[in-house]
Amino acid sequence: TLPEKAATHNLFLKMIPELSNESVLMKDPQRVQDILKSLLDAGPNTLQVISDFDMTLTRFQYNGKRCPTCHNILDNSKAISEECRQKLNDLLQTYYPIEINTSLSVEEKLPLMVEWWTKAHDLLVEQNIKKEELAVAVRESDAMLREGYELFFDRLNQHAIPLLIFSAGIGDILEEVIRQANVFHPNVKVISNYMDFDEFGILRAFKGELIHVYNKREGALLNTGHFEELRSRPNVLLMGDSLGDLNMADGVQDMKHILKIGFLNDKIEESKQSYLDSYDIVLVKDESLEIPNAVLQLLT
Ligand code: TMP
Ligand code: MG
Repeated sequence: TLPEKAATHNLFLKMIPELSNESVLMKDPQRVQDILKSLLDAGPNTLQVISDFDMTLTRFQYNGKRCPTCHNILDNSKAISEECRQKLNDLLQTYYPIEINTSLSVEEKLPLMVEWWTKAHDLLVEQNIKKEELAVAVRESDAMLREGYELFFDRLNQHAIPLLIFSAGIGDILEEVIRQANVFHPNVKVISNYMDFDEFGILRAFKGELIHVYNKREGALLNTGHFEELRSRPNVLLMGDSLGDLNMADGVQDMKHILKIGFLNDKIEESKQSYLDSYDIVLVKDESLEIPNAVLQLLT
């Protein structure tokens, strides 16, 4: 009935008033409310958070200027030659439009993403990058975590809620970003591409299976150990900025409830519908963690 509907709507807004922000889109607000209620009833001890890194925990832009991804932090640093920088930049101009093109299927994009990551990593390995240069590259970069990051990381740590950062970026760089921001707390675990250094501390290869934006499912299934440890936490808050990030929770054991928050940063009009169809909450051009923080405030 109508009065009932109005009542639930009010309850919903009372739970998280920030959800009426202009940047928030939801295809099915009732569904979001139902998931929130289930998560609330189950309690924080049943929750785990899985988040992408680049352009999800970090900002997409600041003062009209694009912020760097993990790879871009190296691309823009003194650790690589001018020639290599140019080549990496050419790769970005070629492949990034493919990554975010919603009229191509994942199957069509897959081989091209493998190509991008492979070429980029091969170029980086040619540069004899020293391990110590990474911290400097991060310090001198324009990388920025989204507004409200302290609250986000600190609250999760305070409540001992595990945070998995699942990134197709570079693990060593990502760790350095959160370390320099003083939020690399003990509840944080990272799955990403890690660099392999030789005995002289020089980059020789990347370790393990390559993770790119569209194989996070495979990456998750290779890390069953992590998800097994978290078996008592069947509820998930997932955060991403790419449609490929939706697969980050594919390794979760006996999953009960999942709330998916998606940042829509680029090509808004073309991508809006597919984001609304797959993420429960879509944040359009929102450079802050206000909504995830409001959700976590409710749940903790
Ligand atoms: P994410 O999984 O943490 O979001 O990281 C993947 C992002 O890294 C993806 O959006 C593309 C970006 N990327 C670069 O910026 N430069 C590169 O050379 C490569 C291979 C990826
Ligand atoms: Mg991302």
